[in-house]
Amino acid sequence: VYQHLVDLIAQGEQNPTRIAASRKHLPLWQTQQRVAAYLGCDPADMVFHINVTQALNQAMFCYQWRGGGELLISHREYPSVVRAAREMARRQGMTIRHFTLPTDPVGEDQLVDAVVSQVMAKTVVVLVSHVTCGAGMVMPVERIASELRRREVISIVDGAHAPGLLPLRLGETDIDFYGGNLHKWFMGPKGTGFLYVARKHQDRMQPQIIGFGGTMEDAGPMEDVLPGVTTRFPYVFRHQGLRDLSPFMALDSTLAFRQSIGEQAILDRIRELNGYARSRLAEEVGLRMASPAPGLHAGLLAVVPPPAWADADARERLYQEHRITVPIWEQPEVGPMMRVSPHIWNDESDIERLVDVMRRGPQG
Ligand SMILES: Cc1ncc(COP(=O)(O)O)c(C=O)c1O
Repeated sequence: VYQHLVDLIAQGEQNPTRIAASRKHLPLWQTQQRVAAYLGCDPADMVFHINVTQALNQAMFCYQWRGGGELLISHREYPSVVRAAREMARRQGMTIRHFTLPTDPVGEDQLVDAVVSQVMAKTVVVLVSHVTCGAGMVMPVERIASELRRREVISIVDGAHAPGLLPLRLGETDIDFYGGNLHKWFMGPKGTGFLYVARKHQDRMQPQIIGFGGTMEDAGPMEDVLPGVTTRFPYVFRHQGLRDLSPFMALDSTLAFRQSIGEQAILDRIRELNGYARSRLAEEVGLRMASPAPGLHAGLLAVVPPPAWADADARERLYQEHRITVPIWEQPEVGPMMRVSPHIWNDESDIERLVDVMRRGPQG
């Protein structure tokens, strides 16, 4: 993937006018079609973004809200997304209310209920993560979105961690807006993410940056012709000025890499390593899990670190002394937390190194 990215940048620089600029037409669209197939949606219902922060900002700030009402947001959302939501609510004259998610749910029903039971007549929109950033709790967002749609409440899903970790069929759900990262578990180049917008909301999307694609009110495609696409949304939101498209084009290599291993094999191996880390840290070191049970959890395993590894500079010491990159932080109202996120480039011996260090303490 990296080599493909570097080659794409080098090729583009050889003739920026012909090569780099022409990529925004058919080549990018073909990549978008393949990525959309992976995400289970129509390519015309998604746009590429450099990260999920920008994707969710676009959902919040480009959708024409009717003004007023309430925005509901879980207490486990990512801080920058919370800030964006707060500002969006302020501009729209909405109130914002944070609700609490259970930390150790017994099943999906409890998670659906934790969200849906909070909805009131004044609730306009709910923002919730697909996989929470601390404990890796998997929210049943498909079921939640269906319940919300029945109540005419809009769903915005922060899918920063889901693509590449959980199978997605976005087009078959009632999710209204879904922002995702492709540079995390999916293993795409840095600077790759996307926003999916359900077709029924696209007419109410007003671009804040207007480029060759014009606005949703313009008559038709202006610059480019995407084969078979008659809706305005992908034209309006894809061409907002020249940028380096190499990271997006290199997603083809990520897809090919994933296929060469097998999508299911990747997901299974992540789950296997996660289970291994869970049992070794619990049984061998006696650490308490802060993530929910395996069925309600994916990818990011949160554990309470031993006291010797719970101070403010533990994360840095762990790297400097042992070359292990594992975030350790102080979670408000919970205490010190450590997060282990093994992927296919890890193996059991990496986890054993962590287990060993945790068991021996910092001086060991
Ligand atoms: C749940 C969640 N949302 C949003 C983000 C922001 O991602 P990015 O910086 O790629 O936009 C993160 C990053 O880790 C995250 O965990």
